Amino acid sequence: MRDAAPTTIYLKDYTPFGYLVDSVHLTFDLDAHATRVTSRIAFRPNPDATDRTFFLHGEELKLIRAAIDGAEITPDVTDKGLTADVPDAPFLWESEVEIDPGNNTALEGLYMSNGMYCTQCEAEGFRKITFYPDRPDVMSTFTVRINGDLPVLLSNGNPSGKGEGWAEWVDPWPKPAYLFALVAGDLIAHPGQFTTKSGRNVDLNLWVRPGDEGKCAFGMEALKKSMKWDEGVYGREYDLDVFNIVAVDDFNMGAMENKGLNIFNSSAVLASPETSTDANFERIEAIIAHEYFHNWTGNRITCRDWFQLCLKEGLTVFRDAQFTSDMRSAPVKRIHDAIDLRARQFPEDNGPLSHPVRPESFQEINNFYTATVYEKGAEVIGMLKRLVGDAAYAKALDLYFERHDGQACTIEDWLKVFEDTTGRDLTQFKRWYSQSGTPRVRVQEDWADGTYTLTLKQRTDPTPGQEAKLPQVIPVAVGLLGPNGDEVRATEVLELTQAEQSFAFTGLAAKPTASILRDFSAPVILEHDQSNAERAFLLAHDTDPFNRWQAGRDLAQDTLMRMILQDAAPDTDYLDGLLTVLRNDELDPAYRALMLGLPTQSELAAALHDRGHTPDPMAIWAAVETLRQATAQTVQDLLPRLHSEALVDGPYSPDAEQSGKRALGSAALALTSRLDGGAMAAEAYDKANNMTLQLTALSCLLRARKGEAQLDAFYEQWQHDRLVMDKWFGLQVAMAAPEATPAIAATLTEHADFNWKNPNRFRAVVGALAMNHAGFHQPDGAGYALLADWLIRLDPVNPQTTARMCSAFQTWKRYDPDRQALTRAQLSRIAETPNLSRDTTEMVSRILG
Ligand code: PHE
Ligand code: ZN
Repeated sequence: MRDAAPTTIYLKDYTPFGYLVDSVHLTFDLDAHATRVTSRIAFRPNPDATDRTFFLHGEELKLIRAAIDGAEITPDVTDKGLTADVPDAPFLWESEVEIDPGNNTALEGLYMSNGMYCTQCEAEGFRKITFYPDRPDVMSTFTVRINGDLPVLLSNGNPSGKGEGWAEWVDPWPKPAYLFALVAGDLIAHPGQFTTKSGRNVDLNLWVRPGDEGKCAFGMEALKKSMKWDEGVYGREYDLDVFNIVAVDDFNMGAMENKGLNIFNSSAVLASPETSTDANFERIEAIIAHEYFHNWTGNRITCRDWFQLCLKEGLTVFRDAQFTSDMRSAPVKRIHDAIDLRARQFPEDNGPLSHPVRPESFQEINNFYTATVYEKGAEVIGMLKRLVGDAAYAKALDLYFERHDGQACTIEDWLKVFEDTTGRDLTQFKRWYSQSGTPRVRVQEDWADGTYTLTLKQRTDPTPGQEAKLPQVIPVAVGLLGPNGDEVRATEVLELTQAEQSFAFTGLAAKPTASILRDFSAPVILEHDQSNAERAFLLAHDTDPFNRWQAGRDLAQDTLMRMILQDAAPDTDYLDGLLTVLRNDELDPAYRALMLGLPTQSELAAALHDRGHTPDPMAIWAAVETLRQATAQTVQDLLPRLHSEALVDGPYSPDAEQSGKRALGSAALALTSRLDGGAMAAEAYDKANNMTLQLTALSCLLRARKGEAQLDAFYEQWQHDRLVMDKWFGLQVAMAAPEATPAIAATLTEHADFNWKNPNRFRAVVGALAMNHAGFHQPDGAGYALLADWLIRLDPVNPQTTARMCSAFQTWKRYDPDRQALTRAQLSRIAETPNLSRDTTEMVSRILG
């Protein structure tokens, strides 16, 4: 049972552990309900530490035996770990514990998934495997022996021996315990080979369950591309003889970078054209790259403590974004990232869960694997690179790897390599790591005598625990366009460091149109009262692809706001601008598809709230529907041709070119369905020869309130495939009419295939409910109640996934008093649940505020 008062851990309290670990030897005797873990750990006093308390973390372990230098001892054991008296000299610690992987539903520590043993140790799961100083600054080499009656026995590092029912692995690279991994099961390898730039041959394997062999080829290619890219761009070479990836069906997150043995949620690695969409392929390629890149940014150089999580995650997200830009289209990737940041990180940063990129306190670290740490953390690195320039960035990174290889580091170490290579003082820049909240940049323009003056004012609203904010360094990329659409000033990065600052552009023949925050040069909210005529001009002429897209987005948002607030008709600047863009065959199809996108309904709710209005989810939904209908009518003549783009010649490939065409074709089909009631979508469904087209057609039909037959046929066709069935569940909730959403979701939770203990399936239904804005926010509170019911049910089984999904409630204070009361009641009901996990307790209490 938990203690009543949860403990808070502070960054400022960091002290090193009193002992260093020279080596770890582990033996696993696998058994579904009584696995024995024997450890032999060589400790010695840490000369840099003052506190010599010998405390080893340990949770849910049955201690069988413990010994120091061969003499049995009886340590003091609590539900958090043990303490013991140890010599003031090097000593050998031994222990034997028993654990129950078969009953581990939290998917943290050693657990079972479909008869396969696997581990998840980040952040603090190793303490559920054996007694250990489970903190990232304690690093050691590991030797692991696995005894078990299963064909495949894997751990980190290189294989060092195997026989009937056993295998041994040695990992020569010192690592923290969170990077430990073990997998044992009846698995099949999809093999590959990679030769590193210095000539090391590496055996690659993607391990999957029998039946999934056909979904490995893409992931394997993505791995090879990632290895090659990291050598070419960062000079980083792989450092073991083998690299293993395992696909697991039951996994809380996307994937995990365990040294030499990455473990993936099967949804983040398994792919085939028949079962995966283009978006799935792109995500898989990025996640494989991400986990592989962690080998240097995370594993070789790790984090001193969990407050430094962004050191590895922000940097690795930044690196995987660079990779995707190089493999695909840089502008399209940048637009996707901005959409994603606004959809996931901005609400977090502007609500009760707001926290700095480097948090300063936590109760449960699992609650800080957030969009802020990951995605804003990556944006911060992007800004740093923009400020110092590409060459200095490359030099700083070389120094980082050279200076810190084998260490557990901090953000201070990271910034220091930039200061040392550039001579720049990064004191003010560091506020990006300590101040929470999204900065807002207000634009004022003046024009006189050939001089255009841009005045930028920054401010950040108060966030929990941070009332007053100081100005940050904001790189604002700006370009100017002349009246005929020519660029009269190329992109320049303005450094906004003060609360208010003016920048003058002289010698201009005519008043220019400014393109501000090009390439989304900072993760801020730009407040720029541009006229729609100027936006339409930028939509037609901007040479910066990001801002050209943004101009269309601003027009869309502006018309939606006026439709919602003033009952205005859809704006012709927007509709005509879109028509021109869609007619322009010189524009990349992927880019044109993005132009057809709209701000999400949740984003519109935030924008209304920002302007002092109470958002009405049903009114927002209705405005979006009306605008879509008007768009369909406006571009009607183009639709058949645009739709035919999706039917590319030749064999399917998930590359940028083909997937861009399908994205445009799919957007066209969605608009067509608004005019023909789904007739064309029904045809497209029958003709679909890949999952992208099949799922698009099905979603168009569901949106048109048709598609019953196709839904059943889809089920018949795919009921054997877990990942495709997740789509079947999720789509029905995503496409449901607002009033019907809670009931449809509730019905799906009663379906025989709704295995709620599987995080992917749970998210497919319950997560999709929270994502359907108007459906979730039904005025009777049915959406809130259903989510709360399921969170209460899942919490004792899987606290981590439960806690993450609580964030669906984070925006509750935007809405009207009735909805607030309904939400508060559900949050209180969750909070009052007996024995609620630490994870969920922390989330709910922060959200309640
Ligand atoms: N470290 C993983 C990643 O980002 C994420 C993760 C965290 C996975 C915790 C599992 C548990 O690559
Ligand atoms: Zn990561």
